[in-house]
Amino acid sequence: MRTITLKDVNKTFYDKSRKLTPVLAIKDFNLRVEDGEAVVLLGPSGCGKTTLLRLIAGLEQPDSGSIFYNGIPLDDIRIEDRGIGMVFQNYVLIPHWESRRTVGFFLRLRDREDEVPAHVKTVANITGVDIESLMGRFPRHLSGGEKQRVSIARAFARDLELLLFDEPFANLDAKFRAQARVELKRLIQEFNVTLIYVTHDQVEAMSVADRIVVINAGRIIQAGAYEALHDDPDSLFVAEFLGTPTINSFWGRVSDGEWDGSYMGRASLPRFRPNGAEVIVGLRPEHIHLCDADSGIPAVIERAIPYYAEKFTLLEVWLRKRRWRLQAPLGAPQEPGDTIHCRLDWSRAFFFDASSGARIR
Ligand SMILES: Nc1ncnc2c1ncn2[C@@H]1O[C@H](COP(=O)(O)OP(=O)(O)O)[C@@H](O)[C@H]1O
Ligand SMILES: [Mg+2]
Repeated sequence: MRTITLKDVNKTFYDKSRKLTPVLAIKDFNLRVEDGEAVVLLGPSGCGKTTLLRLIAGLEQPDSGSIFYNGIPLDDIRIEDRGIGMVFQNYVLIPHWESRRTVGFFLRLRDREDEVPAHVKTVANITGVDIESLMGRFPRHLSGGEKQRVSIARAFARDLELLLFDEPFANLDAKFRAQARVELKRLIQEFNVTLIYVTHDQVEAMSVADRIVVINAGRIIQAGAYEALHDDPDSLFVAEFLGTPTINSFWGRVSDGEWDGSYMGRASLPRFRPNGAEVIVGLRPEHIHLCDADSGIPAVIERAIPYYAEKFTLLEVWLRKRRWRLQAPLGAPQEPGDTIHCRLDWSRAFFFDASSGARIR
């Protein structure tokens, strides 16, 4: 049983020499993670993800606010009773320790070293990876991926209630990352522990999370399932951060109650905005459709990038004097300079206040 609650948590880093301006890393952070839930903290580099994880682990103290495990203040729980398994981005394996010793660290401290082989076997069975053959090796004889598998086995080989992962696969190649995500998903399901997982990668977030918490500049921007965030963003930030290829967004002004993007044309707004208000419209690449010359708007291809695995071509085109991204089938015309015709599905467009970035609904 393990719920995690963060209540009004703030954290600022001060420069010891007092020469640099303080960095406000976490601001008024409130979050409750349910028992057995897999929550992903997703945000750009520097937004405070690692700081949050270190606060939750008790490696860092908040300036104000509190953190609770099952309703008990973190400070009142002894470190050895916190039941945390952690995996970091950089494989922090001790160079002169064989993997067996690393994985057995927690159990050895409690004179339960004889349980280690069974733990290793369980992890190997669930993931389908032969980690037993890695146990006799030193870190210098392990690849990046193997090191991270040893780190994960170590995180699981203990009395476990909470897993904290900080971009564990960020330094690994794409093929291994995809495989490692599947292995991790199996482990989480089998062990049924609470997981807080930090990443800047939306694909990783999507594959691991029950719930994604989008963070920017130390604050929660929006939380929910991937589809909800992607299809119904509250802000321009979330609309631009989630979705591949990135959403098209264009600045315009309100005139006569409509969004007016000059060359772009006009679009009706979901809600009244006064004349002159600055509004950004967002239209996802998948909501632009290729069509016949007589019914579509002409667009000139500037660049075509095929995505064979995802079975589409990303086209960058000039349309109404603006550069757009759209998704075309793999076989569609893709020579730079070719003219294609498009239909824009304005019914799927999002509108945002240009100064705050807040969605206009
Ligand atoms: N020990 C520290 N001292 C000073 N500033 C820090 C320290 N740790 C993090 N920061 C700053 O706090 C902000 C958040 O950092 P971090 O939590 O590492 O972000 P992320 O993990 O999302 O990339 C950044 O601006 C970073 O430079
Ligand atoms: Mg980080």
